[in-house]
Amino acid sequence: MSIRVNDQYVSSFIRNEEYAQLQPMVNAAHELLESRTGAGSDFLGWTTLPVDYDKEEFARIKAAAKKIRKTCKVFIAIGIGGSYLGARAVIEFLKSPLYNNMKKKTPDIYFAGNNISAAALDELVRLCEGKDFCINVISKSGTTTEPAIAFRVFRGLLEKKYGKEGARERIFVTTDRQKGTLKHFSDDAGYETFVVPDDVGGRFSVLTAVGLLPIAVAGIDIDALMKGAAEGMNAYNDPDLAKNDCYKYAAIRNILYRKGKQTEILVGYEPYAAMLNEWWKQLYGESEGKDQKGIFPASVIFSTDLHSLGQFIQDGTRNLFETVISVENGGVSFEIPNDPDNIDGLNFLSGMDMDQVKKTAMQATLLAHVDGGVPNVLIEMSDRSEEALGQLIYFFEKACAISGYLLGVNPFNQPGVEAYKKNMFALLGKPGYESMKADLEARLE
Ligand code: PA5
Repeated sequence: MSIRVNDQYVSSFIRNEEYAQLQPMVNAAHELLESRTGAGSDFLGWTTLPVDYDKEEFARIKAAAKKIRKTCKVFIAIGIGGSYLGARAVIEFLKSPLYNNMKKKTPDIYFAGNNISAAALDELVRLCEGKDFCINVISKSGTTTEPAIAFRVFRGLLEKKYGKEGARERIFVTTDRQKGTLKHFSDDAGYETFVVPDDVGGRFSVLTAVGLLPIAVAGIDIDALMKGAAEGMNAYNDPDLAKNDCYKYAAIRNILYRKGKQTEILVGYEPYAAMLNEWWKQLYGESEGKDQKGIFPASVIFSTDLHSLGQFIQDGTRNLFETVISVENGGVSFEIPNDPDNIDGLNFLSGMDMDQVKKTAMQATLLAHVDGGVPNVLIEMSDRSEEALGQLIYFFEKACAISGYLLGVNPFNQPGVEAYKKNMFALLGKPGYESMKADLEARLE
């Protein structure tokens, strides 16, 4: 297995009997998923996605990515939340957060429509000037404001630059199979479309065209990503906590939550994991945070954040636990040089590999934080490969579903996301929201 849960740094916080006590509830949560009778069971398409996906569409994704790589210098992926975080996480994890600055044969990739910022949109528009570019608008509903604005802008730019015919070859749309304005509009305009399956929610959609097209544009092997996910799918099927690391992680989270550990910090030791943290935060935050319950998902990158949040984690409010991702074989060596004069006093590190220093920093931090009363779940990832990442994605998705059922919430809806939207639409004067406007404006005075 590429992913292993090491519980040695939580063992002083959880007694063995506690796992045994939780086992019947884990069995029940497993049964709800298996029998598809739990809350939100219309959204379980992701459970079998690694093997049960549309092979014809998968081939079209590869062909579209090839065409984009050939015809574009810049590729803009337009989407928000589950419609962008997964793709960006995978690209940065497997390539680099500096992907766009690297020497490469694939296009620069930018993400638009994930904010309401004039500055960000203006920057991206100017970045496209004088360059061949393509866009992929990704929106299951087709109505989300942020990507809709960006799509309108970039579609306009493409049509101005290449004409309607030319633009058609450069616009790729990932949306609902049948319903929705974006699908109808795309069919009428003749854009190539890809499907967000009805039974896969946004935050579980990275292994559909939502994530796979941008990921493939970056030159990442999407077959290997799916293969890794399929390994996870096969491995995490036994409800026995002693045999299923994915369920063990869900159980540890639940036990710690019951002990008042209400914040989970996902810890990466590599800058390339920062967006994976963001993907994970949405997955867990949107799945669990409801009915006035849930673990608050936070994240850090060490050692960077040991110099900002390290103090709090070591010594602040004791409602935290950490989940640490350790990439065992990072694939890159960097030897620390010797200085004959040892001006900086660093010669005790001469000849040592940076990766070794990092691993030592991690061990030191694990021990310090456990001493400070912070349980640490260690997730050991074999390497920085498509296969291992595919497995990790499936691991987190399935653990999230089990966690939600253990918590007694529907892990697959997100009713709370609508509240700000309704207010915003009313205040902006969107037709249909007139009755709310006066009251909201009065409250803002
Ligand atoms: O996980 C989710 O469901 C959300 O984050 C959505 O992905 C996000 O709101 C974007 O929605 P849509 O794809 O409909 O534009």
